[in-house]
Amino acid sequence: MRKGLFALAAVGLVATGSMAACGDSSGDSASSSSSAGTSAGKVGVILPDTKSSARWATADVKYLTDAFKAAGVEVDIQNAQGDKTQFQTIADGMISSGVKVLVIANLDSGTGAAVLTKAKQAGIATIDYDRLTLNGGADYYVSFDNVKVGELQGQGLVDCITAKGYTKPVIAELNGSPTDNNATLFKQGYDSILQPKFDSGEYVKGPDNAVPDWDNAQGGTIFEQQLTSNKDIKGVLAANDGLGNAAIAVLKKNKLNGQVPVTGQDATVQGLQNILAGDQCMTVYKAIKKEADAAAELAIALAKGQTPTTATGTVTDTESKKDVKSVLLTPEAITKANVKTVVDDGFVTKDELCTTDYAKACTEAGIS
Ligand code: BGC
Repeated sequence: MRKGLFALAAVGLVATGSMAACGDSSGDSASSSSSAGTSAGKVGVILPDTKSSARWATADVKYLTDAFKAAGVEVDIQNAQGDKTQFQTIADGMISSGVKVLVIANLDSGTGAAVLTKAKQAGIATIDYDRLTLNGGADYYVSFDNVKVGELQGQGLVDCITAKGYTKPVIAELNGSPTDNNATLFKQGYDSILQPKFDSGEYVKGPDNAVPDWDNAQGGTIFEQQLTSNKDIKGVLAANDGLGNAAIAVLKKNKLNGQVPVTGQDATVQGLQNILAGDQCMTVYKAIKKEADAAAELAIALAKGQTPTTATGTVTDTESKKDVKSVLLTPEAITKANVKTVVDDGFVTKDELCTTDYAKACTEAGIS
């Protein structure tokens, strides 16, 4: 089974440049003396896993494939399936196959940095996708404003708790992977909202645990322990929809779902359905299409030997203290009141979301 998965991952996805082929034969290139600048080398993309969030198996691969295809640039997109050795093996393969640009969403900064170093030694341009590789020195970074993601989660939880009218609620935190720099940034964001409330005594700080590798099953086990030791938990800051769903499953077993607001992130079908059912307070929608398009745009410029102009910001690598040129996009909070925007944006379809159990709630939410 596992072997089968690896085999699948190793095949990857190759969107070959049919448009480039067209361009080559159209005579356009012959008519332009600057045509050399438009021929692009191949791009390699490595995604982390398919289990820590549905996004990696569905959204990212789809939108990246589309973006490179539209530009007629050859891309090889593979997924490391949560395996750090596999991540490095894929990278080695891409480097020896002669990619001009390597785009990675790391599994941790250590392996990510090792891969980036090898790529740079081979003269390959590098882009950190979604997750910054600490001490990695990538040429570019494309992501969302991840502190802002956390702030939206913190504020969303506060709003739901206020709506419930709870006083001195005990808040549990189910954080993302300690090896993911994003998890650190999300926590920085939500703690900036929650900590002042703990300090003032308005809220009570409950258990606060990280979930290794964002593993949803472990998240459930950890939340079960949190709830056993703190029966009075009245709010759960779960760092993404997968962890939120794990907490909701435990709350359901205890007949507490719907009474204890739970946050999330990624606007997954499951997260949105949990919101429609009243079991999840909010999620954060990150328009992955924009992120994939931004990464592809950078990669395509680099693959053509051009200097990209779109990375107008910088983020500081907290370990190396160096600035990395970056594109940071804006996340959006989603509650029952605006689930519709995610459908309108084409990120999830009505058919996926509004299955029998959710049809009524969908209609109430204006999704028709
Ligand atoms: C991503 C989230 C995702 C999480 C788990 C983070 O780095 O930004 O969108 O839910 O990883 O895969």
